[in-house]
Amino acid sequence: MRAGNAACSSGAGKNSAPAVRFRISESGDRALKMTPLARLVLMCVAMITTASTSTLFSQVLKYAKPPDARNGEALYKNGCIACHGRHGNGAPQTSTEFSSPDTFPDFTRCDQTTAETNAAYKDVIVHGGPKRGFSQIMPAFGELLSSEQIDDLIAYIRGFCTDKRWPRGELNLPRALVTEKAYPEDEVVISTAMNASGAPGFTTDVIHEQRFGMNNQIEIDVPINSQDQNHAWNSGLGDITFGVKRVMFASLHTGSILSLQGGVLAPVGNHKYGFGNGTTTFEPFASFDQLFSTNTFLQFQLGADLPHRTDITPQSLFWRAAIGQTLAGDHRLGRMWSPMVEFLADRTLKDGASTNWDVLPEMQVTISARQHVRFDIGVRTPMTNTAGRDKQVVFYLLWDWADGKLWEGWK
Ligand code: HEC
Repeated sequence: MRAGNAACSSGAGKNSAPAVRFRISESGDRALKMTPLARLVLMCVAMITTASTSTLFSQVLKYAKPPDARNGEALYKNGCIACHGRHGNGAPQTSTEFSSPDTFPDFTRCDQTTAETNAAYKDVIVHGGPKRGFSQIMPAFGELLSSEQIDDLIAYIRGFCTDKRWPRGELNLPRALVTEKAYPEDEVVISTAMNASGAPGFTTDVIHEQRFGMNNQIEIDVPINSQDQNHAWNSGLGDITFGVKRVMFASLHTGSILSLQGGVLAPVGNHKYGFGNGTTTFEPFASFDQLFSTNTFLQFQLGADLPHRTDITPQSLFWRAAIGQTLAGDHRLGRMWSPMVEFLADRTLKDGASTNWDVLPEMQVTISARQHVRFDIGVRTPMTNTAGRDKQVVFYLLWDWADGKLWEGWK
């Protein structure tokens, strides 16, 4: 289960009052029931429209003038070859005056370079290594070269990785609090959902994600629960997820990426306390993400929880969407702020069950200079079947460990 799922599952589908179902009720008061949701959708659209017309954009997929890799090659041979080498894998140690840091890039290694965005490269080339917490040996070229020349250089450097099938880091959209993204990641996320109403309680998910090969990723999610249940404080593990994700399609050109994941939830959680399903659960899902050139993005996830023993826990479906916008100052190179809104739905596959709808507005921000440590916080509000489902404050700390150690890259 993902972080914050407690709101979905606690009291989920347990035959809540039919009056709050998200469908036409007999009294014909559907318009009234939909109002808060419709209002939120409107708010969202308004937010995105304002955001995308603002002057602060982040990384771009489109350029005013297409970058010219041939011009980039000439510049590279003048300014970069002494350190980065003719072939992009570093000049021979005998000819350089420095000993390379372990983060020194080998531009021929697609597995190391494709996850980096053009904006991250540009930031380092314009401002020098220290801007992103890298070595000061990497000089700043912002005074010597124009913005277009730097784009040309990046286009040339990209050519050192010859296998174009690797999904590009631009498609690694800001991780939402609940909706799972499609891009395969190397990251550790510690995500907490705390009840903001009703009985006190929280769930913390410790999530480890590790990429392998071009398109695959494994995921382990260990949830830890602590809840006030009828004035007794109960704590314990939830069901542990083991998942394997695979990218089925990725295109920087269209800004789209599609992945499938198969997961198994081991029934180690205490079913009596509502911390686990009490039976092994299979959890397949699909994630589709779309990035637009304005840095507006959409993320969709559709999946099912299929318990082995449906007499203990019924099957359910879930669908989630996140819509957001990334904003960054300093000509799109600076700290990234990503406001998002998630729409979260789940429904047990039982006669008479109705859909739980939640909305979750949130803000993600990169907190380290290297942007490899991020924080996200939001409030998850149940919109339907609200009986027994509490409003929650959800937040995470994310560490992209492929980009450096947790304590490195802060200044
Ligand atoms: C004096 C040596 C030197 C020169 C000249 C130099 N670099 Fe670097 N560059 C480095 C070092 C060292 C690093 C690694 C810094 C680290 O990992 O701490 C680096 C890192 C980089 C990175 C990787 C940043 C990342 O996110 O991993 C890029 C891109 C880059 N250089 C591009 C260039 C370009 C383009 C030029 C020429 C315009 C250039 N460099 C010239 C030494 C140099």
